[in-house]
Formats: sequence, C-alpha cells, structure tokens
Amino acid sequence: MFIATLTALFSCTFADVVLRPEAFQLSRDDIGDFSDIAFGNANDVASIDPDTECRSIPGDPGWPSEGEWSRLNASIDGALLKPEPAAATCYPGPDYDQQRCRFLVETAASVRYFWIDDPLVALAEWTQGSTNTGHDFGGRSVGAGSLSIWVHHLKDFELLPEYTQGNYTGPAVRYGAGIEAWEMYNFMAANGITLVAPGGSTVGGAGGWLSSGGHCSITSTFGLGADQALSIEVVTADGRLVTADPETNTDLFWALRGGGGATYGIITSVIMKAYAPINLTTSSLALRTPSPISDIDTFWQAVSLYYRFCADILDAGGYGFSYIYPGADNSYRFTTSSQFPGKTPSEVRDFMQPLYDELDRIGVNVVNPTPTTRVFGSPRGGGGDRPVNTRYRSRLLPRENWEDDELFNRTMAAIREATEGGYENDFYFHGTLTSPTEGVAGWPGRDSAVIPAWRNNRMHAMLMDLQPVGVTAAEARDRDAMMQTYMQLLRDVSPGAGSYMNEGDPGEPNWQEAFYGEHYTRLLEIKRARDPWGLFWAPTTVGSEGWEVQPVDGYPNSQNGRLCRVTPLS
Ligand SMILES: Cc1cc2nc3c(=O)[nH]c(=O)nc-3n(C[C@H](O)[C@H](O)[C@H](O)COP(=O)(O)OP(=O)(O)OC[C@H]3O[C@@H](n4cnc5c(N)ncnc54)[C@H](O)[C@@H]3O)c2cc1C
Ligand SMILES: *[C@@H]1O[C@H](CO)[C@@H](O)[C@H](O)[C@H]1NC(C)=O
Ligand SMILES: *[C@@H]1O[C@H](CO)[C@@H](O)[C@H](O)[C@H]1NC(C)=O
Ligand SMILES: *[C@@H]1O[C@H](CO)[C@@H](O)[C@H](O)[C@H]1NC(C)=O
Ligand SMILES: *[C@@H]1O[C@H](CO)[C@@H](O)[C@H](O)[C@H]1NC(C)=O
Repeated sequence: MFIATLTALFSCTFADVVLRPEAFQLSRDDIGDFSDIAFGNANDVASIDPDTECRSIPGDPGWPSEGEWSRLNASIDGALLKPEPAAATCYPGPDYDQQRCRFLVETAASVRYFWIDDPLVALAEWTQGSTNTGHDFGGRSVGAGSLSIWVHHLKDFELLPEYTQGNYTGPAVRYGAGIEAWEMYNFMAANGITLVAPGGSTVGGAGGWLSSGGHCSITSTFGLGADQALSIEVVTADGRLVTADPETNTDLFWALRGGGGATYGIITSVIMKAYAPINLTTSSLALRTPSPISDIDTFWQAVSLYYRFCADILDAGGYGFSYIYPGADNSYRFTTSSQFPGKTPSEVRDFMQPLYDELDRIGVNVVNPTPTTRVFGSPRGGGGDRPVNTRYRSRLLPRENWEDDELFNRTMAAIREATEGGYENDFYFHGTLTSPTEGVAGWPGRDSAVIPAWRNNRMHAMLMDLQPVGVTAAEARDRDAMMQTYMQLLRDVSPGAGSYMNEGDPGEPNWQEAFYGEHYTRLLEIKRARDPWGLFWAPTTVGSEGWEVQPVDGYPNSQNGRLCRVTPLS
C-alpha cells in the first residue's frame, strides 16, 4: 500500500520556484480511482497487514508491479526516481564502465557536488557493508528496497526580518528541507544575519542535524539547531501537511526538536531564529610527542589541562574542537581550536593566557598565539563532502565530570586508555566541547525532546573508528566488540549520561536510553499516535525496535538487507 505522503512530497520537487513547495498538495481528486494510494486515518489502522513478517523487496510477490510504479509516478508528475548505485560501473554486469569507474575512484571527490547530487549516496560506506555507496553516519537514510523521500531540491530560503511566535519577536528565516549548511552561510553573508548552522558543508539545515540536536561553534551561546525552531512544516504518515509550533500540533513540535528524524513525519520547511552578525575568534593549540614533548605523561597532563580549561571556555559561550591521534612508537598528536563568538582577538588572547601559564608550569612551553577572527556567517563554497568509512561512537560527558577532581582525573584516564587503544586498532579520539544549556536554549528551545545529556554537556567524546575496507563480516564483528570495550571506558565514567545519535553508533547498547534519555517513553507515545502504521522506519529511531534489518552481508548494523520483525509471528 502506498500512502499519499510520498506523493505530496514528490510533487513539491516540481514546484515553481516562486511558490513555496507546500503550496502544492495532493488532494483526493488527484488520487482518483488509484486504490493503492490513500490518505491515512489514525483511527483506522486495519489497512496495514498484521501478518507481514518482512517488508517487501524487489522480487517479492508483495512488491508493486511496474504498472503500479508507473501510476504512482504519473500521479506525482514523473518525479519518481529509480537510481542505480554510482559504483555499479565498477562491478561486472550491464553497467560496467572502466572509464566511469576510474572517474569515481580518482576524480569524483574533487567535483564539488558530485556525491551530494546523487540520491543514492550515503556518506558512511560501512552502513552498506563497505561497498561504495551512503550523509548519515549511522545508516539512517539508506535501506535496501526502500522508498525514500529526497528533499534535496526543497531549496526555498526567505528572510523574515520581524517575526512573532508566542514569546519570540525578532528576526527569523524560513527555509526548505533541502537547504545545506554552505547555503545557510551564504544566506547569512548576503543578509547580514547569524544562523545556527551545521559545521560541515553539505549537512542539511532541517533534517537529521536539526531533529537530533545539531551542534556548531556557536551552540554554547545560542543553543543547538533544534533550539532555533519556531515553526515546522511536516508531512505526517497519514499524508497530510501540518504545521507544528508552540501552539499547534505541540506533540510533533516537541518531538521533532531533538527526538530524531525519519520517524514522526517528513519536514518540508522550518522557521528558525536569526541573530545579528557575530565574529568568531579562534585560538589554536597543537601538542606532539616525542618532540617537542618528550615525556608521554607530560603530554597527557597538558591535554587534561586544556580540557579542564574548556569549562571556562564553554561558560564564556565558546567551543572546543579537538582531536588526539595516536601514532607509531608512543607518538601522539593533539590539535584543538578554541572558538569564541563575539570576542575580539585581544580578548581571546587574554582569556587563554591562564592556560598557557599552567602549561608552562608543567614544562610545556608554547606561545599563546594571536587568534584569528572572521564573521561567523562568511560565504562558503559547497560540496566536497564525500563517502568515507568512519564509524562514529559517541559519549556526552557531563558537567559533573569537570566539577570533581577525582572524577575529572578518572575521565581523563579513560580518554587516555581509549585513545592508546587506537594505536594498534586504527581509531582516534575526537572531543567536541560545547554547552547548549537550557539557559542558552531559551524559549521555546528549552522545552523540547533534546536529550537532557546535551543540556548538561561538557564534552561530546567520540572514538573515530576507521573501518577497514575489505574485512570479512566475522572480522567486522570482532572489531565491533573490541570498540565496545573502549567505549565502555567512557560510559563507565558517565553513568546515566548519553550519546549523540547523529555522531553515534547504531550499535550503541540500550540505544533508547543512550540517544533519548528520559524522553523515550513520551516520544514513543507520539510515534504510535502519529504513525500507527509504522510507515517510517530507520535504525535507532523512536519506535524502531520491533523491526530490524537482516543484512545480507553479515556486517554488524549494516542496512543492506530485508527489514523483518525481530520476533517472528507465530
Ligand atoms: C561532513 C559532515 C559534517 C558534519 N558536521 C556536523 C556538525 O557540525 N554538527 C552536528 O551536530 N553534526 C554534524 N554532522 C553529523 C550530522 O548531524 C548527521 O550526519 C545528520 O544525520 C545529517 O543530517 P542530514 O539531514 O544532512 O542527513 P540525512 O542522511 O539525509 O538524514 C539523516 C537522518 O535524518 C532523517 N531526515 C533527513 N531529512 C529529513 C526530513 N526532511 N524530515 C524528517 N527526517 C529527515 C533521515 O531520514 C535520516 O534518518 C556532520 C556530518 C557530516 C557528514
Ligand atoms: C517517471 O516519469 C518520468 C517522466 O515521464 C520519467 O522520466 C521517469 O523515468 C519515470 N521514473 C521511473 C522510475 O520510471
Ligand atoms: C512565554 O513565557 C512564559 C514565561 O516563561 C511562559 O509561562 C509562557 O507559557 C510562554 N508562552 C508560550 C506561548 O509558551
Ligand atoms: C568583526 O571583526 C572585524 C575585524 O576585527 C571588525 O572590523 C568588525 O567590526 C567585527 N564585527 C562585529 C560584528 O563585531
Ligand atoms: C588529579 O590529577 C592532578 C594532575 O595529575 C593531580 O595534581 C591531582 O592531585 C589529582 N587529583 C585527585 C583528586 O586525584
């Protein structure tokens, strides 16, 4: 059975650019006598087949016929796509093309929008059994045999200089779900405003980033992406376009801000807070062993002095973006940039000086550099983001860990032990430090489904697992078990905290608690009320637990397979 949702959205992609896509909506008249499409009625869920063991994939008797696909396509003005994976040109078969394949391997990454303009591409290859296809790091936007909605072309963008919503009156913007980060930066520059926007170039401004939180260098000052939303247009599973805001469809408005994408409905556009232009001033620090720091304990002490100092940076509205790379023979490299919205270079230099004094006291003589500054909303070129094979694993380390000396030391010891494991096992440490507290979230941000661990966060600590290409499924499972032991070190020092789903692992144990915290029960009620059919499904989204993908490749958490019930029907 098709639900009209899909149609409504596809027709948007063909909208005249002058009109907002939401102006084009499917009506009962458009459906005519095509009985495979219907608007849903949440009080009548009998239409879903309760006897279905697995969702249909091509070749199954339940899979729509060519004729049905054609009719669907006609009802949506021909917007239905059936793309082939780009990498098919590299494999034996009808699409094999040596020259095209060489282009993919050697050149495609440098062609600005090549990968992003391909509807089949997921930027994390491991979610596809490490074949060359996959933006979401956890495989939440891919699925074998699935019908997916491509919001890429919903590109409308509008400045609302004076907008009122409840308690908020001020500048805002409205943009479509296909807007990417780089387009937001260009819009900021062109209109002299600041928006909370993803750090990457091609991350969507109204998709996964927004719906699971969304951090960037100004989140300790203005809050998360989710905190900026004042109103959200969303197509729900029954096929209807609704507005969710602080007064209308308040359940959806709450859930869509932090409770995860891909499960309550399809966001078509958002209205987000905007701010006056602001400068972002950055101070960088790099430390290395064995030279210039010869003693490994001194290196780790210096790293922990920086992380300790980050509490002050965060409380001043700043952000810390750090990596620790283990190398051969006990060599380590630590890099970080400390970023301050609204401070001048000389203010930042003075602010950082106490850290340099402390480093000096332990024998690490580094010069407090002159910070660089730029307008946060500086123009950017897009593109460049391309498929990689990194598997992210995340822990949100709370404020308490910075407030008790003994616990802080244990936290640093856990980071050290985990990072040391990366030397032999090909992973490294990534610490993103930001404090999107309830205070900075403001209204209506503070009342949302954002995991409470974000409100209390100091460091979003990640192990960046460089999934080897070409390993067998059994080796991949062993590697996953090994990575879990290193992640456990971080969990053990932060009981009851959480993990950031957007840069987390779909194999995270007890993911309901880890990704959603105490909000899970309420979110599940909203999912069941809004999508009683279970139309929308992605791994680790709210309400996904009854079903799982059975990967044909056997790789842990691969999305390459059939979606079936976890507990077979008897
Ligand atoms: C290069 C790069 C840089 C990044 N930088 C940052 C960063 O600075 N800060 C940060 O917080 N994260 C960052 N991330 C992580 C990012 O937040 C996640 O990858 C996120 O899932 C991307 O969302 P998307 O909508 O672009 O991706 P997609 O893969 O399209 O979607 C991710 C999930 O959201 C759902 N979704 C997408 N659009 C909609 C919609 N319109 N309605 C409902 N559900 C939807 C999808 O179904 C899927 O489940 C980065 C990722 C990359 C690849
Ligand atoms: C849908 O229709 C359009 C226009 O007729 C056509 O170009 C496209 O190939 C069709 N899609 C599929 C999957 O057949
Ligand atoms: C506005 O703020 C007040 C005080 O914080 C709050 O009680 C009220 O509910 C808010 N208004 C709306 C529309 O939420
Ligand atoms: C940003 O910095 C530049 C250069 O230091 C300065 O001229 C400008 O006034 C600053 N802008 C804001 C908004 O503070
Ligand atoms: C924490 O570590 C620092 C630096 O090694 C040390 O000086 C301090 O005594 C430790 N504190 C506790 C409570 O262990």
